[in-house]
Amino acid sequence: MRIGLIGTGRIGTFHATALSRHREVGGSLIVTDADPARARRLADRLGATAAPGVDQIFTWGVDAVVITAATSAHSELIGRAARAGLPVFCEKPIALDLPGTLTTIAEVEDAGTILQMGFQRRFDVGYTAAREAVRSGRLGRLHTVRAMTSDQSPPPAAYLPQSGGLYRDTLVHDFDMLRWVTGREITDVYAMGSDAGPSMFRESGDIDTAAAVLTLDDGTLAAATATRLNGAGYDVRMELAGELDQIGVGLDDRTPIASTEPAGPPAATKPWTGFLERFGPAYEAELHAFVEVVRGERANPCDGREALHALRIAEACERSRRERRAVPMGEIPGGRD
Ligand SMILES: NC(=O)c1ccc[n+]([C@@H]2O[C@H](COP(=O)([O-])OP(=O)(O)OC[C@H]3O[C@@H](n4cnc5c(N)ncnc54)[C@H](O)[C@@H]3O)[C@@H](O)[C@H]2O)c1
Repeated sequence: MRIGLIGTGRIGTFHATALSRHREVGGSLIVTDADPARARRLADRLGATAAPGVDQIFTWGVDAVVITAATSAHSELIGRAARAGLPVFCEKPIALDLPGTLTTIAEVEDAGTILQMGFQRRFDVGYTAAREAVRSGRLGRLHTVRAMTSDQSPPPAAYLPQSGGLYRDTLVHDFDMLRWVTGREITDVYAMGSDAGPSMFRESGDIDTAAAVLTLDDGTLAAATATRLNGAGYDVRMELAGELDQIGVGLDDRTPIASTEPAGPPAATKPWTGFLERFGPAYEAELHAFVEVVRGERANPCDGREALHALRIAEACERSRRERRAVPMGEIPGGRD
């Protein structure tokens, strides 16, 4: 299968490596980047072909496109692939704002093409087992869900203004998991944020730490937190508590938290440091799934509307934080009705 991958930065390098090892793709992979030398270096290393620009991805003839370029390029590239009738895998998000997201989804739906979005936690073994546990009824009625994403160290200051902020950039993954694991929709949110850490967050109007309380449509309460400043390591977890049992995703011998109890588990000797390490197998599995989707062997595991719903929750949280009030999801455009 000839796949054209656009954007050979951090995540693009990872995805290109996974595709070049895939038996269906292998040496047929074509990569490109706004910085052609970067694409060439990667192609040489992987035994792939470097295209001099995005145009060649479309004129050389590919079976599918993988978009791992900077967020600002996503909607235009998705639209271009849709008009060419090509299936697309795109890293989250579709766009940083709702109007751009809605327009792009409409373009894909009008073209009748495939858009698979990169919410890799849907392929993580821990989150998958949690989803199965909820659906099996083993936990009983869920009363509380706690979700968290803690980055070990902040991104460069230049990244912040185009990141969309902590809710859209980071917690969007937790919001996707809240919906996907529980099978419920969020009805309202109340969110707060803190910019008490490094000044670059204040200067770009962003926050370094966030907390949100969300109500699910069956009355379950969820709390979601995120920070860019978790010195102990990269900590991504979800706890689901029901009337019969309680489970935790992301609890293992690399979880960067130390127990203060004398008989508690020992502190991790090699705590997780970042997303590529923590979710490596999940990223690889989602790309393998995309190849199967393109071959017509399975349904799309995460289409544009799924990404839209996670973004709408992030939008509601951002509004709640700025206006210091609870925000019903019905206020946010793009819902089901
Ligand atoms: N799912 C996840 O967990 C996850 C993790 C990291 C990044 N991402 C997403 O992946 C995307 C890339 O993030 P990254 O961390 O790899 O960024 P990066 O800055 O490391 O790489 C982006 C690359 O895109 C290239 N680029 C920018 N505009 C382009 C264009 N118009 N055409 C071709 N190439 C272009 C840049 O030159 C750069 O090499 C972002 O949208 C980000 O939100 C998702």
